[in-house]
Amino acid sequence: MEPPNRPAKTLLPGPAWGGRVLTAVARTLPTLEAGNPSPASEMATLYAHLVPYEYRRAHGQFFTPLPVAAFMVRWAVTPQARSFLDPAVGTGIFLQEAVRIAPHLPRLCGYEVDPVLAEIARQVLATTGCFRPQIRREDFLRAEVPGPFDAIVCNPPYIRYREMAHSREVLQTFAQAFNLPLSGFTNLYGLFLVKIAALLAPFGRAAVLTAGDFLNADFGEPLKRFLLTRNLLEALLIFPPTQLLFGEPLTTTCLLLLSRGRAADAPVRLIRLSNFEAVSELSTVLARPAAEASGPGWIQTLRQPHALPPERKWRVFFLSPASASSPYLVPLSELALVRRGIATGANSFFTLTAAEVEQWGLEREFLRPCLAKASFAPFFDFTLQDFHCLAAAGKKVYLLYCEGPGSEALKRYLRYGEELGVPTRYLPRHRRPWFAPEKRPVAPVLVTVFSRTRLRFVFNRAGVWNLTAFHGIYPRFADPVRLRALMAYLISERCGDFLEAEARVYGAGLRKVEPRDVMALPVVDVRRLPPPVVEKLARLFEELCTAQRDQEGLPAVWARLAQVLEPYVTGDEQT
Ligand SMILES: C[S@@+](CC[C@H](N)C(=O)[O-])C[C@H]1O[C@@H](n2cnc3c(N)ncnc32)[C@H](O)[C@@H]1O
Repeated sequence: MEPPNRPAKTLLPGPAWGGRVLTAVARTLPTLEAGNPSPASEMATLYAHLVPYEYRRAHGQFFTPLPVAAFMVRWAVTPQARSFLDPAVGTGIFLQEAVRIAPHLPRLCGYEVDPVLAEIARQVLATTGCFRPQIRREDFLRAEVPGPFDAIVCNPPYIRYREMAHSREVLQTFAQAFNLPLSGFTNLYGLFLVKIAALLAPFGRAAVLTAGDFLNADFGEPLKRFLLTRNLLEALLIFPPTQLLFGEPLTTTCLLLLSRGRAADAPVRLIRLSNFEAVSELSTVLARPAAEASGPGWIQTLRQPHALPPERKWRVFFLSPASASSPYLVPLSELALVRRGIATGANSFFTLTAAEVEQWGLEREFLRPCLAKASFAPFFDFTLQDFHCLAAAGKKVYLLYCEGPGSEALKRYLRYGEELGVPTRYLPRHRRPWFAPEKRPVAPVLVTVFSRTRLRFVFNRAGVWNLTAFHGIYPRFADPVRLRALMAYLISERCGDFLEAEARVYGAGLRKVEPRDVMALPVVDVRRLPPPVVEKLARLFEELCTAQRDQEGLPAVWARLAQVLEPYVTGDEQT
């Protein structure tokens, strides 16, 4: 599928506030103390303070924290390195670190398309006393870059396909030059990644910080294939979501460590970090021979390149091997069936508010209580009282559910639907009669289909029908205590991570799960847990529901839940 061809935002000319920003920089830089650890970070903070967020977001101007930048440069610059490139300089943190870590590197180059930032970077680097870095005020993707380079370090701009000036043209040039069937949805950082890989010298290394969406998104497939065919992937590190780097809420960060000249059978290290600080530990881990290992804030698993199929979603491979092998974890499909919600084909007609029901005089027998939007059920559970509140607030919570034109009132409403042209819509057109509902029993558990943040499970206490905003989960067992224990697991942080790994990621971090993704979710087998543990989990679920609604004590209950679940998730509890 091709994205809609929308008018792209122009990247240049420079902003009107450029002069003001440069004056502030010229005034502030000389006042920094001589031993300041990172003038580039100071200027990044100043820049972010003076330049509107919207502009920075549209141009992918977010800056790398010093510990991460230092780690990236230290990894990429080997003692043999003679040349260094940063293709998206910003305020110059990578060049600054390269000068600090390897003061005698003969060749230092950078590209920065924004004239104001290019000038700031020049001034920042001048404070290091090193005048060798050449910073070109140019678009890296179009520039004739005189490669190759021994070390490339980059935090490329995160800019969605729709917002790129020149997206189509550059995409086509890249597709031809690298014989790559790049999707029109490719984020700008994907193009940087390809060009960086192509500019790497034999035995060269690159460290590239990107969003993690390519790991699970369709547009990532050709990128992953490109990196694998060239056997460039030394390590992939993922950090928990942060708004810091991409201007998008809750975007997972991925750090790619690429090297040319890897042994054909060398495994790829997949490292999952719980925070940015944990990165400082990793220099020693990466210097050691590859092995499955973990330490404070990080877990490393290994995978042979051939065991990383580009068409698969890769997030799942980062889960700890212990989790994957716990005898208590089974795919949800063993415990439950997952089906998508009811598709009406015209929600505005098929769902009604309480006032509309009254106005048309529709009898209750032709209506079913329903949930049409994920936002209608924001808690861990959805109660009858929640339903009545939505109804009282004028939300469309009644689903028309009838087989034949029963009463006079119903006939009148169906005629109204015909006047609106509902029977000619795609789904109604294919139904007999056009208003016949999809048959579904009430699902005891629901899961949201789309989310920009985290996908969520909801316990359906009210017994309402769900439309397509939720998939319905139908347990294969009847015990209500076990069901609550399962709910406790489904809303746990561990399960959230597993679900994230199964989700597909679309533009702008939009996540989606299909019923089969949810069926594949590893869950604690509540049929095999000791009964006291099942009871404890069920109680904790009830406590969590109360704590969430009262906004009191949630973290403490959450921690107790993690404690109870952990041995069964990691497999430390022997069967
Ligand atoms: C995510 S920031 C990273 C800045 C800096 N390297 C850091 O890590 O703090 C990306 C930078 O790339 C610049 N940029 C955007 N598109 C570019 C292009 N086509 N060529 C070169 N630079 C570009 C942006 O202006 C921005 O300064």
